[in-house]
Amino acid sequence: MVARRPLIAGNWKMFGRLAGLGELAALWDLTRQAGAALDMLLCPPAAYVNAAAVAARGTQLLIGAQDCSAVSEDSARTGEISAAMLADVGAAYVIVGHSERRSLHGESDALVRKKAEAALAAGLTPIICVGETLTQRQAGRVEEVVAAQVRESVPAAGIVVAYEPVWAIGGDRTPSVEEIAAAHALIRDTLAASFGEAGRAARILYGGSVGPKNAAEIFTAAGVDGALVGRASLKAADFAAIVLAHPAVR
Ligand code: 13P
Repeated sequence: MVARRPLIAGNWKMFGRLAGLGELAALWDLTRQAGAALDMLLCPPAAYVNAAAVAARGTQLLIGAQDCSAVSEDSARTGEISAAMLADVGAAYVIVGHSERRSLHGESDALVRKKAEAALAAGLTPIICVGETLTQRQAGRVEEVVAAQVRESVPAAGIVVAYEPVWAIGGDRTPSVEEIAAAHALIRDTLAASFGEAGRAARILYGGSVGPKNAAEIFTAAGVDGALVGRASLKAADFAAIVLAHPAVR
């Protein structure tokens, strides 16, 4: 089996300004030693994807977006941004189905799947987010909910899945290492059931309150191929500390 290359991804959400892209040079200064061992990705708001791709030139930092249209054809869709446009301005990845889009914008598994298909058609790697709410966890429904999201949101192999328990995002709580490992095993088995060995080979990231203090422990969880980081991706020093905490680098 070929080892999966770790991926540490940052999701800036609706934060950041053009001036903040200076953090990319600072980040690369701190992390260039990690470039041989793992992939580093930053997903700024769409408005800054092009400038971020320009700022990342000459480094191994990858740039991605946080969402894309489910429609691939150039067409009359005011406000939408196609995956092809994101690829055109330098994105290599796109996050789809983040829980904030699922909950605040009513995105269904079917829509997330279409977005992932559009991303793949444009040559982008989709990072497809799944994860249970606190109510679902307390009701003992983690396996049922997460497996269904994977089955219905993931259209093909060649993708990345991010396990982001909704209740762990934006606060200071995370699941235990055992709970993270169990969810990752479930996701991997579900991908294998759908897509065979190619599905089993997908990278699966943990997301939800990852920071410099807990990253090393989270990376010890079996099956975790990296992280999808929110708040701690905004500052180069914090994100670099997470990257450098990965066992592939240390
Ligand atoms: P935080 O790391 O800020 O909890 O956000 C996680 C997240 O939603 C990344 O997509």
